[in-house]
Formats: sequence, C-alpha cells, structure tokens
Amino acid sequence: MINERILILDFGGQYNQLIARRVRECNVYSEVHPYTMSLDDIKKFNPKGIIFTGGPNSVYDHESPTISKDIFELGIPILGICYGAQLMAYLLDGKVEKAKVSEYGKTKIETNSSSFLFDQIDSSTIVWMSHTDCISKAPNGFTVTAYSKDCPIAAMENHRLKLFAVQFHPEVLHTEDGMKIIYNFLYHICHCHGDWKMKDFSNEIIESLKKKIGNGKVLCALSGGVDSSVAAVLLSKAVGKQLTCVFVDHGLLRKNEGDEVEKIFGSHGNYALNFIRINAQERFYKKLSGIIDPEKKRKIIGEEFIRVFEEIANEIGEVDYLVQGTIYPDVIESGLGKSAVIKSHHNVGGLPLVVHFKEIIEPLRSLFKDEVRKLGLELGIPNHLVYRQPFPGPGLGIRIIGEVTESKIKIVQDADAIYQEEIKKAGLDQKIGQYFAALTNMQSVGVMGDERTYAYAIVLRAVTTSDFMTADWFRIPYDILDIISRRIVNEVPGVNRVLYDCTSKPPATIEFE
Ligand code: XMP
Repeated sequence: MINERILILDFGGQYNQLIARRVRECNVYSEVHPYTMSLDDIKKFNPKGIIFTGGPNSVYDHESPTISKDIFELGIPILGICYGAQLMAYLLDGKVEKAKVSEYGKTKIETNSSSFLFDQIDSSTIVWMSHTDCISKAPNGFTVTAYSKDCPIAAMENHRLKLFAVQFHPEVLHTEDGMKIIYNFLYHICHCHGDWKMKDFSNEIIESLKKKIGNGKVLCALSGGVDSSVAAVLLSKAVGKQLTCVFVDHGLLRKNEGDEVEKIFGSHGNYALNFIRINAQERFYKKLSGIIDPEKKRKIIGEEFIRVFEEIANEIGEVDYLVQGTIYPDVIESGLGKSAVIKSHHNVGGLPLVVHFKEIIEPLRSLFKDEVRKLGLELGIPNHLVYRQPFPGPGLGIRIIGEVTESKIKIVQDADAIYQEEIKKAGLDQKIGQYFAALTNMQSVGVMGDERTYAYAIVLRAVTTSDFMTADWFRIPYDILDIISRRIVNEVPGVNRVLYDCTSKPPATIEFE
C-alpha cells in the first residue's frame, strides 16, 4: 500500500532515475513521468511533492520542453533541478540567460541557513554544477537562498508557494550534502513520513505483473546472474507455472558456469521453475567467426539470443511475453535515453527490431544494481547468489578482444578461474565489486625454459563501484598479483604475460569491449 508519492517530471536530463533512486533511499515512493503528463493526471497521481528534472535544452528556445504554469497553483511543493529550476524561473517571469561563465563540476556555494532546503547544512558546501544557462533574475516573491562565485542564483525559493529551485544536482554523489537536501525537501517541505520499503516495491511489482500477464505464457531469459535471477523469481512468484525459464549456454560463459546454473535453477535446484537449458555454443561460434568489431559482436550475440528464444517460444506455443533482467544502467548506457551510446548491452540496444513476442517485460528497468540486490534479498534469494559478481550478457565474447575462437575462450576461462580462486583465497572476494580476466589481442615474445615463446597477454581487471556507472580500480596487493600471474603463465597454455588494468571508469569502462 502506497500512501506518499513523489512525482518526478522528466525534462530529458541524464540523472532522472538517479533522482528517483535518491527519493527511494529516503524511503519515499517515487515515479518518473514525462513532462507532458497532463495536470489532471498529475492531480490523480496525488503527489506529496513534484520534482522537475534537469535537461539539455534552453528554456528560451521555442521547441524546449515546458509545462503549464497552472502546475504552480496546485499547492503541491515543487523542487526544480537545473533545467527544472530555470523553467520555474522562466515561467514565473524571472529571467534566464546564457551564463557568463558555464559551471561544470564541483563548485562551492554559500547557502542561506534559514531555508528549509538547507536545514542542518553548512553555509558553505560543495555541489555538482553542469550548466551553460543560469537564472539571472528570480521571479517576484522568490528569495535567493544560495549563490556561487559565477552563479548569483544557485538556489531560490518562494516559501509561501512551496516552490524551490536549485541550479546544481543534489542527486549526484559529488554534491556533498545532496542527500540531505533531498531529505529536507521530502520531509521538511513535502512532510513525507517515509512509508516506503523495498518489501512494498516487491509486492507491487508482483501484483502489477499478475495483472498484466493474466493467463498469458511467459518466457524468462535466465543467465544465472543476479539481475535475471531476481527477475525470474519475481515472475515465478507472480505467475508460477505459466513461466518457463530458458538458459542459453552460448559457450561464452565462465568455466563450468553452465553446469552450475543448471544445478541451482534446474529440476534438482531450489526453485520451482520450469527450466530449459539450450546448448547453443556452435551456433554462436559460427556467427562470431571473423568478427572483430565490439559493437558487431554485441549485436550478433544479442540477436542470436533472441532467435533462440523465439524458437523455444514457438516450440512451447503461444508465448506472449519475454522477460529480461535489464536494469537501469543497461538502459542509459545503451543510449535508449538521450545520452550517447557507449555500449549496446545485449539485452537492450542489441535487440533486433522484429521481436515475435507480444511484449518484452523488464521489471527491473528502473533499478540500480544495489537496489536489485536488496530486492533479491527481500525475495528470499540466498546471499551467495545475490552478491554474485555481475557477468555481462555477451559473456566472454566481450572479454576477448578481437575475433572470438574456441581456443581463446578456453584460455580466458582457465585464466579467469585461477584469478577467481586466488582472490577468494586471499579473502578479497567481497571487497572487490567485479573482477575478471580478459584476453588482449596482443601476442608478445617471452622465454620459458630455454625456449622463445610468442603468446597472448592476459589482462586482469578488478574494480570497486557502488552502481557500475562509475568505478575505481582495486589495489590488489602485489604479492597476490604475483601469485596469480605466476599461476596463469604456468598453468594456462598460450599465455606468457599478465597485465593489470589500473584505469578507473570513466575514462575506461569496466568491460573491455
Ligand atoms: P561497462 O563495461 O559498461 O560495464 O562499464 C558496466 C557493468 O555492466 C556489465 N555489462 C553488461 N551487462 N549486458 C549485461 O547484462 C551487457 O551487454 C553488458 N555489458 C557490460 C559489466 O559487466 C559491468 O558490470
């Protein structure tokens, strides 16, 4: 049961789901809707507060997203962020102009402590700015509550009308008091009580899945990873035996992984799922033969996945829905929002255009990885599965730089198994967010015994991260690296060199392709 809701109106900014997530972290339910939502629908939604997101446009351009001024008359507290702040100023007859100096990055602001928004926050605090326009004149009735060196109106408010605006991004972790600002808006301005918990979310999704699917048949793409496992368990709770989970072994899995997944989810496993394992290795290898472009590899693997599912669906007959464990970072990094394409995640951007299912259901689409894990625990999925490292859908296909061949797959599987084993032995497993071995496309000269070798270099990757959108490289102690490197070179034929990747994300990404 949801009592308190925050409505997030999306003006096209890149951090919109992050805002929703921050609100959830404060135990308040929120939904992101397009800025075109009608006033009637907004009233029906009955929000305790509204947040206008940022966006890439200038409010004074004709085509820019806008909203009816009547929204300010509803008496519902509104927080405008960045573009949302400028829009509020513009619509209420303030002034927005191109800033003399664009601010980007960490910026010091001075705040007015009597503002509810800045309650319990130092008068001088660091925020994350990212703007080329700025509010140059606040609307009548508004007070300026914060400023920076180059931004005279970094925050403003009309307390009587419950309208608040910040030029910076409180939702981004670089804004040191960002969470407090959001908390202040929710609790001191919207008077929320924090009645939302992950348990509610889980029940709501299950209920809405039941309603949507009715008597329909559902296929779930199960990889054994956290995301698809959580999606599968959600679906099995919603529609039980109407669900069939299909595990495609594309031959690009970690060593022994196919058998392990079958052990957990198959007929002898812990879950009452219809489980089908498809051994499709040959099919994938054939399609990947000769392909070196990373995006092509991703698209081929994604498309082949879908084809396999379609075939199974046809065999089962009358399958209406396909379920995927897509999570929010997959969606934005595949460029389905407005941000640039970084990689086509195989379960999103790699989808071919013609998909023969009535619909694809992605119940985790708005969640971040750590939220999916919390949801998994809530659903009773055991710890070791929930905290399993993420493994990308295209698997070793994107951890082998250049052409994928069976012999390269064997090399990277064996090296990775040694790496995993030694990291666990050293007790570092839970301290590292994700770690794996990849095969560079580089061969170089070495000497083993008295023989010259010309063999591949394995690269080791290990990162810490909270949301996989940014990551820092993990400092594995040298003596552990030494053990791993020696073992890999000695035990894996075809490798004579081990490299360690010490790049964070950005500028690198976690995977190599
Ligand atoms: P990148 O390499 O983009 O990875 O920094 C971020 C996280 O996403 C995982 N990843 C994927 N997961 N399908 C997935 O399900 C994919 O195509 C894919 N590509 C990357 C990656 O392992 C890391 O955890």
